Amino acid sequence: MSPFDLTRTLAPDDTAAALRADVADGLTRDPKELPPKWFYDAHGSELFEEITRLPEYYPTRAEREILRDRAGEIAQAARARTLVELGSGSSEKTRLLIAALRALGGPLTYIPVDVSESALAQAGTALLADHPGLTVHALVADFQRGLTLPAAPGPRLVAFLGGTIGNLVPVERAAFLASVRRMLAPEDTFLLGTDLVKDEATLIAAYDDPQGVTAAFNKNVLAVIDRELGADFDLADFDHVALWDRDNEWIEMRLRARRYLTAKVPALDLTADFAPGEEMRTEISAKFREAGVRAELAAAGLRLRHWWTDREGRFALSLASPEE
Ligand code: AVJ
Repeated sequence: MSPFDLTRTLAPDDTAAALRADVADGLTRDPKELPPKWFYDAHGSELFEEITRLPEYYPTRAEREILRDRAGEIAQAARARTLVELGSGSSEKTRLLIAALRALGGPLTYIPVDVSESALAQAGTALLADHPGLTVHALVADFQRGLTLPAAPGPRLVAFLGGTIGNLVPVERAAFLASVRRMLAPEDTFLLGTDLVKDEATLIAAYDDPQGVTAAFNKNVLAVIDRELGADFDLADFDHVALWDRDNEWIEMRLRARRYLTAKVPALDLTADFAPGEEMRTEISAKFREAGVRAELAAAGLRLRHWWTDREGRFALSLASPEE
């Protein structure tokens, strides 16, 4: 058997249909709203990588610090023979986990799951170059739509890193965590990355950097809609907005129309009017506390076993296992 294979559970047509449905729905709502998953075409993914290198955007570095310091402990607790990574992207931080799991001895299977086939192919090839003993089963899938994993040796460690769970509203998080729970056998574990509640200035700076990289990332969703659906959004007609919603404890990114405008979306036979100053939500990024994470896990039948943070307490990794 080849050490790398890739399974598509998502046809390119599914992705195109999902974009059309999301844009048709989002532009006809009041207030208008677009889901954050459409930021990540090739350019958007590059902009996100650039964001992770900004001095203001601490989550990536904080999570990497935890993994650097705790990967050994995580591996000891999980004893996993298979690592499943949801939303693996470039698999960059995963290398620390893979090295720690490999150090337990014995073979390791890595199952990266992502909507981007190109990211999976690239990451898989790069990992195999460094870890000749590794078996990689890449899975092109949208993990928010329920997942069936390929058969792989247990125990399995399912990881969802980066704080991406924060992009989901609470009901979506509950559904997602329940689907993770259904994926786990009694010996399996779940590793979850969550950004933590902190002072507003630090949070806002992380989502509104002075170089404007986050602004470009935010506006990129309009470029995606222009290209994929033939729309005529002019990115210069919108301002980037990042605000802290104190009640919901989430950061919200919005695009604010600078003038009255009508956007045409020919592929949907749709026009959307924007009033001057009208704001369209493009992302929430929820921030968490230990008690909240514990409660959300418990509601899904998962028990929090370990809670690790970086030294400054900005970000947390949780390790959970199925409740008996
Ligand atoms: C990749 C979803 C974790 O919410 O912080 C970065 C995306 N948005 N800057 C986040 C993002 C604005 C990021 N996640």
